[in-house]
Amino acid sequence: MSGNRTFTMVKPDAVANGHMGNIIADITAAGFKVVGMKYLQLSAEQAGQFYAVHKERPFYGELVSYMSSGPIVAAVLEKANAVSDFRTLIGATDPSKAEPGTIRAKYAQSIAANAVHGSDSDENAGIEASFFFSNLELVL
Ligand code: RTP
Ligand code: MG
Repeated sequence: MSGNRTFTMVKPDAVANGHMGNIIADITAAGFKVVGMKYLQLSAEQAGQFYAVHKERPFYGELVSYMSSGPIVAAVLEKANAVSDFRTLIGATDPSKAEPGTIRAKYAQSIAANAVHGSDSDENAGIEASFFFSNLELVL
């Protein structure tokens, strides 16, 4: 995966609160092309695997049960400078600290239920995208 792709999830709170369509609209309006997309619910085991990097953090148990609590949208996005531009578009982890107009400022509930995930590096974007998608499932 080169530097022009990132991976995102619309998280269970945002789907449950009816923000899925608006969030995808904001993402595409910001110039990201969708190259893969799936609507699914993670099992607790799958959510734990996805967030294994946070295993030692105090919020890990809460994160795993939240991320498996309802359906999500998983997507691979393409744009120049994708990882960094997408983190700017979604805003800070804590929505009360997110810049106005960012996706988390607009749609997130709390630091835990914060509406969207965005990869934090090109390397992790590749690892996370391949957790959900095979290369055959991505539009070229
Ligand atoms: P993400 O990975 O989901 O894009 O979020 P992030 O980089 O902004 O934040 P990160 O530090 O990677 O944390 C991953 C997710 O864990 C939940 N969290 N809960 N209760 C808490 O204090 C707390 N802190 C983090 C959030 O869902 C966060 O997005
Ligand atoms: Mg993160």
